[in-house]
Amino acid sequence: MYIIEVASEMAPLAKVGGLADVVLGLSREISIRGNSVEIILPKYDCMRYDLIFGLTPTYHDLQVPWGDGVISCTVWFGFVSDQKCFFIEPHSPENFFNRNTFYGCTDDVQRFAFFSKAALEFILKTDKRPDVIHCHDWQTGLVPVMLAEMYQHAGMSNQRVCYTIHNFKHQGVFGGDILHATGLHRPDYYYQYEKLRDNSNPSVLNCMKGGIVYSNFVSTVSPRHAFEARFTDQGHGLGDTLNRHQEKFGGVLNGVDYNTWNPEIDHHIPAKYTCDTIQDKYHNKDALRDRFWLTKDMKPIIAYIGRLDEQKGLDLIYHAAFHSLNRGAQFILLGSGSNNEINNKFGHLKNQLNNSPDCHIEIGFNEELAHLIYAGADMVIVPSVFEPCGLTQLIAMRYGTIPIVRAVGGLYDTVFDKDHAHSWERNGFTFNDLDTYAIESTMNRAISLFYDYPHDFRQLMINGMKSDYSWRRPGENYVNIFDYIRHK
Ligand code: GLC
Repeated sequence: MYIIEVASEMAPLAKVGGLADVVLGLSREISIRGNSVEIILPKYDCMRYDLIFGLTPTYHDLQVPWGDGVISCTVWFGFVSDQKCFFIEPHSPENFFNRNTFYGCTDDVQRFAFFSKAALEFILKTDKRPDVIHCHDWQTGLVPVMLAEMYQHAGMSNQRVCYTIHNFKHQGVFGGDILHATGLHRPDYYYQYEKLRDNSNPSVLNCMKGGIVYSNFVSTVSPRHAFEARFTDQGHGLGDTLNRHQEKFGGVLNGVDYNTWNPEIDHHIPAKYTCDTIQDKYHNKDALRDRFWLTKDMKPIIAYIGRLDEQKGLDLIYHAAFHSLNRGAQFILLGSGSNNEINNKFGHLKNQLNNSPDCHIEIGFNEELAHLIYAGADMVIVPSVFEPCGLTQLIAMRYGTIPIVRAVGGLYDTVFDKDHAHSWERNGFTFNDLDTYAIESTMNRAISLFYDYPHDFRQLMINGMKSDYSWRRPGENYVNIFDYIRHK
């Protein structure tokens, strides 16, 4: 099969969240399975150009109709982690992708509507005829809409679309100006409830809803989250639309790239280890403590690694720092805030705890440090408010680091409680309620196991290390989905 991924992020060169990792990891896996994969991305000024191999212009003057005129684009080609990538560079006064940021501009919907249109125009003009176009999140929600309503008639009638939703919270709402700019026009038609009209606000249109309505298959990133999106408020207003399209909607759990996240081969950590040499993990614990000037004693290290966003349960993370210290554990945090207010809040925490020999708070993101923390810590906490899939818990398990998580979304599907789950699947600790009591009592159970039953603690570590959360199974699932829709 021939698959084109259209996305607004890809690791490691343009990464904001887990979407970036999925685009790279999944593309690699489906290529390994003998399919041909190409990836189309915006040519952002702030990408890691040092990670693109052989970047060259491949298509000059791609004319993309936009509003009353045309925007000329240069399309560049280069390899990233062996994957074939095309980068769209528009030449227009708006400078859509030269903003020194990936997102957060007032005209984001315009920027990505343009990107979606340019990607289709590029596919059309270069006579690429993929079996499946795979797009992601609100940024590319208009791809299936424009494909069905405009490009199908221009010669792309056999292309199918799979649309993957990583985060229902951001849906991309817009008004008639974008209908005009994209050339979709016909407001009366698109403002129908069955089409793109936003489910809560009848005066706007919704990119993500368009993606759901027009795609041949819609997935989200875990089975549990597929349920939550339909039947709880986690669909952020799209539950009804998902229910109407339930026959083409499902959850596929993400994988982890074990080429990057694997203590057996990780060159960022001082001591490599496997299940059989698990005691070598503790050299990494020593190194981690050296790095942060933490006391070396019998205490467990509990860590938080990831974005600091409301979604992640900020109050509980904050609370967990103090609770760890109170219960005789050490605490390490590595994360960057999604806004200044959050950075200030955790900056304040850093000031408060900086002198403690048992705590280190690192604001910002540092990939290499993340590896050392996964390898050196004993447990990680993931107390998310919602979590479509979550990567932290999957990476942690690979490193024999025990996850303590709130049982939502992908966390529910991948972490099984030491005391409550079936004995053969136990690999961590879970709690349900979003309150300090719940996280405290769960952390207490984990800390007690560490101190009082080291043998059982080690067994839990091994269970996590042995589970397979690679891209193998998800890759197979996506290939099956692609194959299914292309024959429809
Ligand atoms: C988003 C979700 C996260 C998921 C990731 C990749 O960032 O919040 O749960 O793991 O996308 O799908």
